[in-house]
Amino acid sequence: MNIKQWSVLSLFIFCCAMSLQAQDIAKGKKIYATRCLVCHQADGGGVPNMNAPLDGASNVVGNNIARLVRIIKKGYNEKIALDGFYYSNAMTANPDLSDADIANVLSYVRTSWSNSASKITVAQVQAAKSKK
Ligand code: HEC
Repeated sequence: MNIKQWSVLSLFIFCCAMSLQAQDIAKGKKIYATRCLVCHQADGGGVPNMNAPLDGASNVVGNNIARLVRIIKKGYNEKIALDGFYYSNAMTANPDLSDADIANVLSYVRTSWSNSASKITVAQVQAAKSKK
């Protein structure tokens, strides 16, 4: 293979990888729309005193991935302060979501609105689950 063929091939691989990533975010957005939007809102802003915001939330863009995975799977009703505020609603569990679904929806919320944290891989979701 000559250098020109190499560059065409690597461009092709690069584009495939990019479109795969884009697709994961698109899938995550769909899951968000059907499962999360009703409480956390389209802009990720939540509902004051009721549903926690995901946009700009320190835990959402933080490094405790195991906690985020657990919240998606099992729901959340701790009533402890999140960035200084309390939320009266209880988050429903999503026991039927696959590891890939969880990775996609977490990737979506961590990279949407003003959030620009790392995406979450399926391997990270699996590692998080094995911790508990
Ligand atoms: C029934 C409403 C509801 C639905 C549906 C819902 N949530 Fe929540 N979520 C909440 C509430 C309320 C809290 C805060 C609960 C508390 O403080 O006890 C929360 C908390 C969270 C947190 C923790 C935020 C932080 O700052 O630590 C994350 C992450 C989260 N939700 C993501 C999601 C995702 C992703 C989905 C969709 C798969 C979803 N939620 C669906 C109501 C909901």
